[in-house]
Amino acid sequence: MPSTLITEIGELVTNDPSLGDGSALGILHDAALVIENGHVAWVGDSADAPAADERIDAGGRAAIPGFVDSHTHLVFAGDRAGEFAARMTGEPYTGGGIRTTVVATRAATDDELRALARARVREMAASGTTTIEAKSGYGLSVAGEARILRLSREFTPETTFLGAHAVPPEFEGDRDGYLALVCGAMLEACVPLARWVDVFCDPRAFSEDESRRVLRAGMTAGLLPRVHGNQLGHGPGAQLAVELGAASVDHCTYLSNDDIAALAGSDTVATLLPGADFSTRSPYPDARRLIDAGVSVALATDCNPGTSFITSMPLVIALAVREMRMTPAEALHAATAGGAAALRRGDIGRLVPGARADIALLDAPSHAHLAYRPGGRLVWQTWKDGGRVVPACSG
Ligand code: NIG
Ligand code: FE
Repeated sequence: MPSTLITEIGELVTNDPSLGDGSALGILHDAALVIENGHVAWVGDSADAPAADERIDAGGRAAIPGFVDSHTHLVFAGDRAGEFAARMTGEPYTGGGIRTTVVATRAATDDELRALARARVREMAASGTTTIEAKSGYGLSVAGEARILRLSREFTPETTFLGAHAVPPEFEGDRDGYLALVCGAMLEACVPLARWVDVFCDPRAFSEDESRRVLRAGMTAGLLPRVHGNQLGHGPGAQLAVELGAASVDHCTYLSNDDIAALAGSDTVATLLPGADFSTRSPYPDARRLIDAGVSVALATDCNPGTSFITSMPLVIALAVREMRMTPAEALHAATAGGAAALRRGDIGRLVPGARADIALLDAPSHAHLAYRPGGRLVWQTWKDGGRVVPACSG
Protein backbone atom coordinates (compact mmCIF):
# COMPACT_ATOMS: atom_id res chain seq x y z
CA MET A 1 0.00 0.00 0.00
CA PRO A 2 1.56 3.35 -1.02
CA SER A 3 2.38 5.81 1.76
CA THR A 4 0.66 9.22 1.88
CA LEU A 5 1.93 12.53 3.20
CA ILE A 6 -0.68 15.11 4.19
CA THR A 7 1.19 18.36 4.49
CA GLU A 8 0.55 22.09 5.03
CA ILE A 9 -1.92 21.32 7.85
CA GLY A 10 -2.64 24.64 9.59
CA GLU A 11 -3.76 22.96 12.80
CA LEU A 12 -3.31 19.25 13.53
CA VAL A 13 -5.32 17.94 16.50
CA THR A 14 -3.54 14.82 17.77
CA ASN A 15 -5.39 14.36 21.10
CA ASP A 16 -1.99 13.55 22.62
CA PRO A 17 -1.25 16.10 25.38
CA SER A 18 2.47 15.31 25.21
CA LEU A 19 2.56 16.82 21.72
CA GLY A 20 2.39 20.39 20.44
CA ASP A 21 0.74 22.99 22.64
CA GLY A 22 0.44 20.62 25.62
CA SER A 23 -3.36 20.95 25.81
CA ALA A 24 -5.62 17.88 25.86
CA LEU A 25 -5.96 18.30 22.08
CA GLY A 26 -2.17 18.21 21.56
CA ILE A 27 -2.31 20.75 18.71
CA LEU A 28 0.54 21.11 16.21
CA HIS A 29 0.65 24.07 13.81
CA ASP A 30 2.09 24.03 10.28
CA ALA A 31 2.12 20.29 10.59
CA ALA A 32 2.23 17.17 8.46
CA LEU A 33 1.18 13.56 8.90
CA VAL A 34 2.32 10.39 7.12
CA ILE A 35 0.03 7.40 6.56
CA GLU A 36 1.39 3.88 6.01
CA ASN A 37 -0.62 0.67 5.88
CA GLY A 38 -3.78 2.34 7.12
CA HIS A 39 -2.11 3.81 10.20
CA VAL A 40 -0.45 7.07 11.17
CA ALA A 41 3.29 6.56 10.77
CA TRP A 42 4.58 10.04 11.57
CA VAL A 43 3.37 13.48 12.75
CA GLY A 44 5.44 16.65 13.06
CA ASP A 45 6.38 19.96 11.46
CA SER A 46 5.65 20.29 7.75
CA ALA A 47 9.26 21.40 7.25
CA ASP A 48 10.58 18.09 8.64
CA ALA A 49 8.15 15.77 6.87
CA PRO A 50 9.64 12.65 5.28
CA ALA A 51 8.91 11.81 1.66
CA ALA A 52 6.00 9.54 0.76
CA ASP A 53 4.54 8.00 -2.40
CA GLU A 54 1.61 10.42 -2.51
CA ARG A 55 1.42 14.04 -1.29
CA ILE A 56 -1.78 15.89 -0.28
CA ASP A 57 -1.55 19.64 0.29
CA ALA A 58 -4.06 20.60 3.00
CA GLY A 59 -3.61 24.29 2.18
CA GLY A 60 -3.58 25.45 5.82
CA ARG A 61 -6.74 23.57 6.77
CA ALA A 62 -7.26 21.90 10.13
CA ALA A 63 -6.95 18.10 10.50
CA ILE A 64 -8.70 16.33 13.36
CA PRO A 65 -9.23 12.68 14.30
CA GLY A 66 -12.33 11.32 12.58
CA PHE A 67 -15.38 11.54 14.83
CA VAL A 68 -16.23 8.49 16.92
CA ASP A 69 -20.03 8.34 17.05
CA SER A 70 -20.33 5.92 19.96
CA HIS A 71 -24.15 5.83 20.15
CA THR A 72 -26.43 5.26 17.15
CA HIS A 73 -29.48 3.20 16.28
CA LEU A 74 -28.30 2.86 12.67
CA VAL A 75 -30.67 0.23 11.27
CA PHE A 76 -34.35 1.17 11.20
CA ALA A 77 -37.13 1.89 8.72
CA GLY A 78 -39.67 4.70 8.59
CA ASP A 79 -39.69 8.06 10.29
CA ARG A 80 -41.66 9.74 13.07
CA ALA A 81 -41.90 13.28 11.78
CA GLY A 82 -45.52 13.43 12.96
CA GLU A 83 -44.47 12.52 16.49
CA PHE A 84 -41.77 15.21 16.33
CA ALA A 85 -44.26 17.83 15.13
CA ALA A 86 -46.66 16.90 17.94
CA ARG A 87 -43.82 17.29 20.45
CA MET A 88 -43.12 20.75 19.18
CA THR A 89 -46.70 21.67 20.13
CA GLY A 90 -46.13 20.41 23.67
CA GLU A 91 -46.56 16.59 23.63
CA PRO A 92 -43.96 14.90 25.86
CA TYR A 93 -41.58 12.17 24.66
CA THR A 94 -42.48 8.91 26.41
CA GLY A 95 -40.64 6.23 24.44
CA GLY A 96 -44.00 4.87 23.23
CA GLY A 97 -43.08 5.62 19.61
CA ILE A 98 -40.41 2.91 19.65
CA ARG A 99 -43.20 0.48 18.75
CA THR A 100 -44.04 2.51 15.62
CA THR A 101 -40.46 2.02 14.40
CA VAL A 102 -40.54 -1.67 15.34
CA VAL A 103 -43.58 -2.16 13.07
CA ALA A 104 -41.89 -0.31 10.17
CA THR A 105 -38.58 -2.13 10.66
CA ARG A 106 -40.17 -5.57 10.84
CA ALA A 107 -42.02 -4.83 7.59
CA ALA A 108 -38.87 -3.79 5.69
CA THR A 109 -36.74 -6.20 3.67
CA ASP A 110 -33.04 -6.70 4.35
CA ASP A 111 -32.21 -4.77 1.19
CA GLU A 112 -34.41 -1.87 2.22
CA LEU A 113 -32.83 -1.69 5.67
CA ARG A 114 -29.34 -2.00 4.18
CA ALA A 115 -29.98 0.86 1.74
CA LEU A 116 -31.34 3.09 4.51
CA ALA A 117 -28.38 2.35 6.77
CA ARG A 118 -25.91 2.90 3.92
CA ALA A 119 -27.35 6.34 3.21
CA ARG A 120 -26.98 7.27 6.89
CA VAL A 121 -23.40 6.00 7.00
CA ARG A 122 -22.61 8.12 3.92
CA GLU A 123 -24.08 11.20 5.57
CA MET A 124 -22.04 10.49 8.68
CA ALA A 125 -18.83 10.07 6.68
CA ALA A 126 -19.51 13.33 4.84
CA SER A 127 -19.64 15.11 8.18
CA GLY A 128 -16.36 13.55 9.36
CA THR A 129 -17.43 10.42 11.23
CA THR A 130 -15.12 7.43 10.84
CA THR A 131 -16.34 5.07 13.59
CA ILE A 132 -19.97 4.23 14.37
CA GLU A 133 -21.51 2.15 17.11
CA ALA A 134 -24.86 0.63 16.07
CA LYS A 135 -27.59 -0.83 18.30
CA SER A 136 -30.40 -3.27 17.67
CA GLY A 137 -33.67 -2.58 19.47
CA TYR A 138 -36.22 -2.18 16.66
CA GLY A 139 -36.71 -5.90 16.06
CA LEU A 140 -37.66 -7.06 19.57
CA SER A 141 -37.94 -10.71 18.49
CA VAL A 142 -35.19 -13.33 18.27
CA ALA A 143 -34.98 -13.18 14.47
CA GLY A 144 -35.63 -9.41 14.33
CA GLU A 145 -32.85 -8.45 16.73
CA ALA A 146 -30.38 -10.86 15.12
CA ARG A 147 -31.25 -9.45 11.68
CA ILE A 148 -30.56 -5.86 12.74
CA LEU A 149 -27.21 -6.85 14.24
CA ARG A 150 -26.26 -8.86 11.16
CA LEU A 151 -27.02 -5.85 8.95
CA SER A 152 -25.26 -3.47 11.36
CA ARG A 153 -22.11 -5.58 11.13
CA GLU A 154 -21.94 -4.86 7.42
CA PHE A 155 -21.10 -1.28 8.47
CA THR A 156 -19.29 -1.52 11.82
CA PRO A 157 -17.74 -4.00 14.26
CA GLU A 158 -19.13 -1.93 17.18
CA THR A 159 -22.55 -3.56 17.43
CA THR A 160 -24.77 -3.53 20.51
CA PHE A 161 -27.58 -5.88 21.51
CA LEU A 162 -30.48 -3.74 22.78
CA GLY A 163 -33.32 -6.26 23.02
CA ALA A 164 -34.33 -4.47 26.23
CA HIS A 165 -35.31 -1.28 24.39
CA ALA A 166 -39.07 -1.70 24.88
CA VAL A 167 -41.57 -4.48 25.54
CA PRO A 168 -43.12 -5.41 22.17
CA PRO A 169 -46.92 -5.53 21.75
CA GLU A 170 -47.08 -9.35 21.70
CA PHE A 171 -45.69 -9.36 25.28
CA GLU A 172 -48.08 -6.64 26.54
CA GLY A 173 -48.78 -7.45 30.20
CA ASP A 174 -45.98 -10.05 30.33
CA ARG A 175 -42.79 -8.08 30.97
CA ASP A 176 -41.26 -11.02 32.73
CA GLY A 177 -41.89 -13.31 29.77
CA TYR A 178 -40.22 -10.77 27.48
CA LEU A 179 -37.22 -10.35 29.77
CA ALA A 180 -36.83 -14.14 29.92
CA LEU A 181 -36.72 -14.16 26.12
CA VAL A 182 -34.21 -11.27 26.00
CA CYS A 183 -31.94 -13.04 28.50
CA GLY A 184 -32.46 -16.45 26.89
CA ALA A 185 -32.98 -17.27 23.21
CA MET A 186 -32.63 -13.69 21.98
CA LEU A 187 -29.31 -13.18 23.73
CA GLU A 188 -28.06 -16.54 22.49
CA ALA A 189 -28.88 -15.59 18.89
CA CYS A 190 -27.33 -12.13 19.24
CA VAL A 191 -24.10 -12.86 21.14
CA PRO A 192 -22.15 -13.91 18.04
CA LEU A 193 -23.25 -10.70 16.29
CA ALA A 194 -22.57 -8.14 19.02
CA ARG A 195 -19.72 -6.74 21.10
CA TRP A 196 -21.93 -4.87 23.59
CA VAL A 197 -25.15 -5.28 25.59
CA ASP A 198 -27.31 -2.25 26.39
CA VAL A 199 -30.61 -1.60 28.20
CA PHE A 200 -33.00 1.35 28.30
CA CYS A 201 -32.91 1.89 32.09
CA ASP A 202 -35.29 4.75 32.77
CA PRO A 203 -38.49 5.46 34.73
CA ARG A 204 -40.68 4.76 31.67
CA ALA A 205 -38.63 1.83 30.37
CA PHE A 206 -36.82 -0.91 32.35
CA SER A 207 -36.34 -0.79 36.13
CA GLU A 208 -33.05 -1.11 37.97
CA ASP A 209 -33.60 -4.81 38.71
CA GLU A 210 -34.74 -5.57 35.19
CA SER A 211 -31.78 -3.67 33.75
CA ARG A 212 -29.30 -5.43 36.04
CA ARG A 213 -30.76 -8.78 34.99
CA VAL A 214 -30.33 -8.02 31.28
CA LEU A 215 -26.84 -6.60 31.62
CA ARG A 216 -25.65 -9.45 33.84
CA ALA A 217 -27.02 -12.02 31.39
CA GLY A 218 -25.22 -10.28 28.53
CA MET A 219 -21.98 -10.07 30.49
CA THR A 220 -22.15 -13.75 31.44
CA ALA A 221 -22.54 -14.51 27.74
CA GLY A 222 -19.40 -12.48 26.97
CA LEU A 223 -20.79 -9.06 25.97
CA LEU A 224 -19.54 -5.78 27.44
CA PRO A 225 -22.10 -3.53 29.15
CA ARG A 226 -23.28 -0.02 28.28
CA VAL A 227 -26.46 1.69 29.46
CA HIS A 228 -29.16 4.09 28.25
CA GLY A 229 -29.82 5.95 31.49
CA ASN A 230 -31.11 9.10 33.14
CA GLN A 231 -32.78 10.34 29.95
CA LEU A 232 -36.40 10.88 30.98
CA GLY A 233 -35.85 11.60 34.66
CA HIS A 234 -33.64 10.87 37.63
CA GLY A 235 -33.02 7.15 38.04
CA PRO A 236 -30.60 4.33 38.72
CA GLY A 237 -28.95 4.09 35.27
CA ALA A 238 -25.72 5.96 35.97
CA GLN A 239 -24.99 4.20 39.26
CA LEU A 240 -25.90 0.82 37.81
CA ALA A 241 -23.48 1.47 34.95
CA VAL A 242 -20.72 2.22 37.46
CA GLU A 243 -21.60 -0.83 39.58
CA LEU A 244 -21.27 -3.14 36.57
CA GLY A 245 -18.16 -1.45 35.15
CA ALA A 246 -20.02 -0.35 32.01
CA ALA A 247 -17.94 1.45 29.40
CA SER A 248 -20.54 4.20 29.20
CA VAL A 249 -23.86 5.52 30.43
CA ASP A 250 -25.62 7.47 27.73
CA HIS A 251 -27.97 10.49 27.84
CA CYS A 252 -27.32 11.65 31.47
CA THR A 253 -29.88 14.43 31.08
CA TYR A 254 -30.89 14.07 34.74
CA LEU A 255 -27.98 13.42 37.13
CA SER A 256 -27.84 13.86 40.90
CA ASN A 257 -24.71 14.87 42.79
CA ASP A 258 -24.35 11.23 43.88
CA ASP A 259 -24.54 10.07 40.25
CA ILE A 260 -21.79 12.52 39.31
CA ALA A 261 -19.60 11.48 42.24
CA ALA A 262 -20.04 7.80 41.30
CA LEU A 263 -19.11 8.52 37.66
CA ALA A 264 -16.12 10.64 38.66
CA GLY A 265 -14.68 7.77 40.67
CA SER A 266 -15.12 5.23 37.87
CA ASP A 267 -13.99 4.24 34.37
CA THR A 268 -17.52 4.74 33.06
CA VAL A 269 -17.81 7.48 30.45
CA ALA A 270 -20.83 9.82 30.50
CA THR A 271 -21.96 10.00 26.88
CA LEU A 272 -24.05 13.09 26.25
CA LEU A 273 -26.53 13.16 23.37
CA PRO A 274 -27.60 16.77 22.86
CA GLY A 275 -29.37 15.89 19.61
CA ALA A 276 -31.90 13.92 21.68
CA ASP A 277 -32.38 16.78 24.13
CA PHE A 278 -32.81 19.15 21.17
CA SER A 279 -35.36 16.96 19.37
CA THR A 280 -37.37 16.15 22.50
CA ARG A 281 -37.16 19.72 23.78
CA SER A 282 -35.64 18.48 27.03
CA PRO A 283 -33.22 20.31 29.27
CA TYR A 284 -29.59 19.86 28.24
CA PRO A 285 -27.22 18.16 30.68
CA ASP A 286 -24.63 20.48 32.20
CA ALA A 287 -21.41 19.11 30.80
CA ARG A 288 -19.39 21.73 32.65
CA ARG A 289 -20.56 20.28 35.97
CA LEU A 290 -19.44 16.80 34.85
CA ILE A 291 -16.08 17.88 33.49
CA ASP A 292 -15.29 19.99 36.55
CA ALA A 293 -16.10 16.99 38.76
CA GLY A 294 -13.61 14.86 36.80
CA VAL A 295 -16.07 12.73 34.78
CA SER A 296 -14.94 11.51 31.34
CA VAL A 297 -17.38 12.84 28.77
CA ALA A 298 -18.21 11.70 25.23
CA LEU A 299 -20.55 13.19 22.64
CA ALA A 300 -22.58 11.16 20.14
CA THR A 301 -25.55 11.64 17.79
CA ASP A 302 -27.95 8.93 19.10
CA CYS A 303 -29.13 8.80 15.46
CA ASN A 304 -32.64 7.28 15.63
CA PRO A 305 -36.07 8.18 14.23
CA GLY A 306 -37.69 9.02 17.57
CA THR A 307 -35.49 11.33 19.60
CA SER A 308 -32.62 12.39 17.34
CA PHE A 309 -32.79 11.92 13.57
CA ILE A 310 -29.34 13.48 13.35
CA THR A 311 -26.20 12.15 11.67
CA SER A 312 -23.92 15.17 12.10
CA MET A 313 -21.28 15.23 14.84
CA PRO A 314 -20.47 18.88 13.99
CA LEU A 315 -24.07 19.77 14.88
CA VAL A 316 -23.74 17.82 18.14
CA ILE A 317 -20.54 19.73 18.91
CA ALA A 318 -22.24 23.06 18.22
CA LEU A 319 -25.13 22.15 20.56
CA ALA A 320 -22.73 21.00 23.26
CA VAL A 321 -20.79 24.25 23.12
CA ARG A 322 -23.80 26.55 22.97
CA GLU A 323 -26.11 24.69 25.34
CA MET A 324 -23.97 22.53 27.64
CA ARG A 325 -21.16 24.89 28.61
CA MET A 326 -18.40 22.96 26.85
CA THR A 327 -15.53 24.81 25.18
CA PRO A 328 -14.99 24.06 21.47
CA ALA A 329 -11.84 22.13 22.48
CA GLU A 330 -13.67 20.05 25.09
CA ALA A 331 -16.47 19.26 22.67
CA LEU A 332 -14.05 18.13 19.95
CA HIS A 333 -12.17 15.98 22.45
CA ALA A 334 -15.45 14.40 23.64
CA ALA A 335 -16.51 13.70 20.04
CA THR A 336 -13.22 11.93 19.20
CA ALA A 337 -11.11 10.66 22.13
CA GLY A 338 -14.21 10.62 24.36
CA GLY A 339 -16.08 8.39 21.92
CA ALA A 340 -13.04 6.12 21.66
CA ALA A 341 -12.98 5.79 25.48
CA ALA A 342 -16.71 5.04 25.49
CA LEU A 343 -15.97 2.16 23.09
CA ARG A 344 -12.81 1.18 25.00
CA ARG A 345 -10.74 1.65 21.86
CA GLY A 346 -7.13 2.79 21.98
CA ASP A 347 -6.54 2.72 18.23
CA ILE A 348 -8.95 5.50 17.24
CA GLY A 349 -9.75 9.05 18.36
CA ARG A 350 -6.08 10.16 18.21
CA LEU A 351 -3.67 11.07 15.45
CA VAL A 352 -0.37 9.70 16.70
CA PRO A 353 2.01 7.10 15.28
CA GLY A 354 0.36 3.68 15.51
CA ALA A 355 -3.24 4.97 15.56
CA ARG A 356 -5.58 4.22 12.70
CA ALA A 357 -5.41 6.87 10.00
CA ASP A 358 -9.01 8.04 10.51
CA ILE A 359 -8.96 11.75 9.74
CA ALA A 360 -11.34 14.61 9.03
CA LEU A 361 -9.80 17.50 7.12
CA LEU A 362 -11.85 20.61 7.80
CA ASP A 363 -12.52 23.34 5.28
CA ALA A 364 -11.52 25.74 8.05
CA PRO A 365 -8.29 26.81 9.72
CA SER A 366 -9.21 25.63 13.21
CA HIS A 367 -11.43 23.15 15.05
CA ALA A 368 -13.26 26.05 16.74
CA HIS A 369 -15.10 26.63 13.44
CA LEU A 370 -17.11 23.43 14.10
CA ALA A 371 -19.10 25.23 16.79
CA TYR A 372 -18.62 28.73 15.41
CA ARG A 373 -20.12 28.05 11.97
CA PRO A 374 -22.90 25.50 12.58
CA GLY A 375 -24.87 24.28 9.61
CA GLY A 376 -22.18 24.81 7.00
CA ARG A 377 -20.25 22.10 5.18
CA LEU A 378 -17.07 22.17 7.21
CA VAL A 379 -15.63 18.77 6.29
CA TRP A 380 -13.43 18.92 3.21
CA GLN A 381 -12.23 15.30 3.20
CA THR A 382 -12.73 12.22 5.38
CA TRP A 383 -10.09 9.47 5.54
CA LYS A 384 -10.70 6.05 7.06
CA ASP A 385 -8.00 3.43 7.62
CA GLY A 386 -5.66 5.52 5.47
CA GLY A 387 -7.98 5.74 2.47
CA ARG A 388 -10.04 8.73 1.39
CA VAL A 389 -13.75 7.96 1.69
CA VAL A 390 -15.14 11.49 1.20
CA PRO A 391 -15.10 12.74 -1.48
CA ALA A 392 -15.14 9.19 -2.85
CA CYS A 393 -11.98 8.30 -4.75
CA SER A 394 -12.75 7.56 -8.40
CA GLY A 395 -10.97 4.47 -9.68
O1 NIG B 1 -31.70 6.78 22.71
N1 NIG B 1 -34.05 6.11 24.79
C1 NIG B 1 -34.21 5.14 24.13
N2 NIG B 1 -33.90 4.96 22.87
C2 NIG B 1 -33.72 5.98 21.90
C3 NIG B 1 -34.99 6.47 21.33
C4 NIG B 1 -35.76 5.42 20.67
C5 NIG B 1 -36.98 5.88 19.95
O2 NIG B 1 -37.74 6.73 20.44
O3 NIG B 1 -37.18 5.30 18.87
C6 NIG B 1 -32.84 7.08 22.45
O4 NIG B 1 -33.28 8.23 22.65
FE1 FE C 1 -30.15 5.78 22.05
